[in-house]
Parts: sequence; structure tokens; C-alpha cells
Amino acid sequence: MFSLFSSRFRRPLVAWFRRHGRSLPWRETADPYAILVSEFMLQQTQVATVLPYYERWLARFPDFAALARADESAVLHAWQGLGYYARARNLHATARAVRENFHGVLPRDAATISTLPGVGRYTAGAIASFAFDQAEPIVDANIARLLSRLTNLHTAIDTAAGRDRLWQTATALLPRSGGRLHNSALMELGALVCLPRRPLCAQCPVRQFCAATNPAELPRKKTRRHIVRLDESHAFVLCRKRVLLEQSAARWRGMWILPRLETAPRAQPLLRLDFPFTHHRITLSVFAQPYSPNERQSWISLGVLDRLPLPSPHRRALAQLLPRQKLCSTFSGA
Ligand code: ADE
Repeated sequence: MFSLFSSRFRRPLVAWFRRHGRSLPWRETADPYAILVSEFMLQQTQVATVLPYYERWLARFPDFAALARADESAVLHAWQGLGYYARARNLHATARAVRENFHGVLPRDAATISTLPGVGRYTAGAIASFAFDQAEPIVDANIARLLSRLTNLHTAIDTAAGRDRLWQTATALLPRSGGRLHNSALMELGALVCLPRRPLCAQCPVRQFCAATNPAELPRKKTRRHIVRLDESHAFVLCRKRVLLEQSAARWRGMWILPRLETAPRAQPLLRLDFPFTHHRITLSVFAQPYSPNERQSWISLGVLDRLPLPSPHRRALAQLLPRQKLCSTFSGA
């Protein structure tokens, strides 16, 4: 019998990775800051989406000091379009914590890294292994799928018991040193071969270790939270090449959105668009409205719109509405 927990498993895994692993920019660097940025961006977001953001971010904020100095608006603007803006705020807070608590140098051990804002067990292990080559376990969605199949785990992986089993397996699989290569290889095998619906078992370098009887049915999860539909109404008010926007205090805090309307007007909307937000599906309706600005709202010159952080659905709405608009909308109090 082959043991999963030995170099008999790790050797073909790593050999496969050296041959088939993708060359990704955060794999070509040992800069802890760049690796931390990549891990924040890659939470909930695919590699292809992250690539251009990652390069632009490093050009704009090349190190912890530069990011710590930036104001929140600049940080949100650079993140604009990636979604889940709490990650940008946490990354910013992490840069400030590194400056204030660690003399600007990221600590090397996972336990200390995990005290930073927005850094959970996975991200701490990822940074310790990818940046400092430590033998720390990591379990992300790709590795969870791979490990649940290797061990034929039938416990739901989004339960405490399921998570415990995955972390125990990831820990038992670790080599004594060389965490970077090992974790990269596990993650890549999950991403490229051990695919969610149709795993490519014939291409798997460790298939003789796999206990899954029916891999396509693993991992198991509790039943999914269903999607809730929401209708939201906003105003479009334009005058003298300025548009009325509101700085959000709730969802997208700190970003600029079209002014919210408490109730939907009876009129036809100028525009309707749908977008997902966590477990919601939101229909955004935009109305031409006479409007009295309140203290969270400002008249924004069209010339500076590109420099402000706007969430994608609102930027899209403006991109469609502005070219259609020739005159002032009626308004009061500008
Ligand atoms: N997803 C999260 N971290 C990643 C990494 N370092 N490489 C590829 N995909 C990832």
C-alpha cells in the first residue's frame, strides 16, 4: 500500500508541478508584500481576473510603506472592479499594522501573520509558505476538493468537523521543509486536474493514492444558501456637467454611488441592471429625479469621475446614462 503521508506521495506531486505548474507573477517573487497582495486579491477571485490588478497595484503601491501612506479613497480606487472591498480595507489596515507594529517588516511565522487584519488561517499559512518557504498547512477551495477526494471524505467540508479533517490531512501531508513548492503543487493540482465536476484523473500524478470511489461527487457541502432577490432604486441627477453622487456608508462604504431612493418612483426607470452581491441578486433601477442633496452627497464634475472609487454596477450605470444625457435634469438645491 502507498502511504499518502510520505515522500512517495510528495515526489510525483512536486515533479508534476515543476512540469505543468503555471508561471504566475506571485510565484516568481519572494517579496512578502507582493505575495500578501496576491493572496488578498485571490480570495474569492480567479487568477485571470487578478493578474492585471496585481501588476497595477504593485506599480501604484510598491511596498508596505507606500500602501500605509495612501488614503482610503486611493486604495478603493485601485481595487475598483475586484469586488469584496473589505479585502482592500483589510489590506490597507494590514500595511499600517506592519508599519506600526513590526517596523515595516512582515513577520515570518504564521501565528503572528494571522493577527493581521483580514488574515485568516489559510492566508497566514499561504504567506508563511509562499513568502518564507515554511512548512505550514494551507486549505483553500482547490486543496479542500483535492484532499476530500484523496481521503474519500464524506463529511461536509463547510462544517467544523469537515474543516478539522481537511486541516489535519493538510498538516499530515507536509514535508519537513519546502512548504512553498509543496503547497503550490497541491493548489495547482486542485486548480488544473482535480476539477470540480470532471476531474482529469487520467492525468493525475497521485491517482494511485486517491481513495475516492466517486470523485465527481466530492467534496460534500451542506445545502447552499439560496439567492435572495432585491430591488434597489437610485437617482440620476445631472447638471452643468456635474452628477450628484453619494458616499456610501453601508455596502461599498467610502465609495461613490448614485443617490439612493427610499421608495421606487412610479415612473419608468432610465435604466435597469442586475448584479450579484454575496448571496443577493440585485436589480438596480435608476430614475430621473428632482432631488435635494443631503450631507453625504456631492456634485461631482464629470472630469474627475475616473479618479473616484465607484462600485462596478454604478460605474456601468453612469457609462450608459451619461452619453444619453444632453441637458440638466431638474433638481433643487445644487
Ligand atoms: N489562489 C490563492 N492563492 C493562489 C496562488 N498563490 N496561486 C494560484 N492561485 C491561488
